[in-house]
Amino acid sequence: MQSETSQHGAKTGLILGIESSCDETSAAVVEAGARVLSNVVASQVRTHARYGGVVPELASREHLQNIVPVVRAALEQASVTLDQLDAIAVTEGPGLAGALLVGILYAKGLAFALNKPLIAVNHLEGHIHAVLLEARQQHNAIAAPLLALVVSGGHTHLYLAEERIGVWHYRNVGKTLDDAAGEAFDKVAKLLGLGYPGGPWIDWLAQHGDARAVPFGPINIKQKPYREPAAQSPRFLFSFSGLKTAVLRYVETRNLQAQITARRTALAAIENPGPQDALALCDKETLNLIASFQRAVIDDLLRKTFAAAETFHVRSLVVSGGVAANRELRRRFMQEANQRGLPLAFPSIALSTDNAAMIAAAAWPRLAAGSFAPEGLSAAPSLALGHNL
Ligand code: KG4
Ligand code: ZN
Repeated sequence: MQSETSQHGAKTGLILGIESSCDETSAAVVEAGARVLSNVVASQVRTHARYGGVVPELASREHLQNIVPVVRAALEQASVTLDQLDAIAVTEGPGLAGALLVGILYAKGLAFALNKPLIAVNHLEGHIHAVLLEARQQHNAIAAPLLALVVSGGHTHLYLAEERIGVWHYRNVGKTLDDAAGEAFDKVAKLLGLGYPGGPWIDWLAQHGDARAVPFGPINIKQKPYREPAAQSPRFLFSFSGLKTAVLRYVETRNLQAQITARRTALAAIENPGPQDALALCDKETLNLIASFQRAVIDDLLRKTFAAAETFHVRSLVVSGGVAANRELRRRFMQEANQRGLPLAFPSIALSTDNAAMIAAAAWPRLAAGSFAPEGLSAAPSLALGHNL
């Protein structure tokens, strides 16, 4: 059954992607990993905003409510019927177990009922393929080997990626030891009485502050000296929890707490508040703190990513994941890449954050290779991508 379907799939390659690893329920139809026919995302931001973070139990319930209408909308927008699909792709992990299970169970049921192959996709691989998909769509080649910085709410990872005979291979060469960069944005925003998720708030407010006002220094990590067996570990390490603590110390020593409480209360009284509402509620010192924090995160991501690109002699750089939506990050990375003559690609803003088009795109080489999920597929909350250096 599988090979027959995969031969058929090679002609059109219509894949329905399903993503439910965190707080976005998404379904998309992508043709041959190169053309997005639809990409529907139901965000749960409003549900989790009042808690200042994703509540796993609520996330699972919302996925359950959203999955059927989201898949239906994705098929309708793509003008594709279930029968026309060549495969169903679903995020296997990493992510929240209960959230992942909703997408996996639904995808399994659909694949079983339709007698179509099921393809399991690593969410991190999906973020990389968001960029590859759009490059193919625009007929731009991304030269390999490439270095991918996947920077989101749950991850800050560096991967070397290369396609060999139709199969993508990844090597993890960098990771965070504690908080992910997006997590740091979210925690600092929460600490300063701003909304959730914090990234877009900090992104917008930072343009009104002086990024050099608070001299957060470079983030240096004492790395164990290189030894043969230790070569198993990634070489480029990130850490953002110290920076978050430095912001907290600054708030304490400058007595900003009363202003933060007032801001939190004022924003809570606004229906669906946005960063524009927070501007009048932030004094110059707070705006400078926000801009300086963002600058420190970007400085660190930039320094280590370009050092890794140099170490591994890559031919292009890809930056993906929710934090890749950050405007200042894009500007700084672009400037640095241009200076070095290194091709750099970002996904569009819509494909930077979680979406199912990237899952369907990552599944495309697997459909062509006939590499399908086992019948016993389950959620893998801490699934890793590739092997270590
Ligand atoms: O990729 P994503 O949607 O979900 C995960 O896989 O984690 O990323 C969400 C993260 C959140 O931490 C959010 O604050 C951050 O991406 N984010 C941003 C921006 N937009 C989203 N961080 C900085 N600047 C932004 N513009
Ligand atoms: Zn993600």
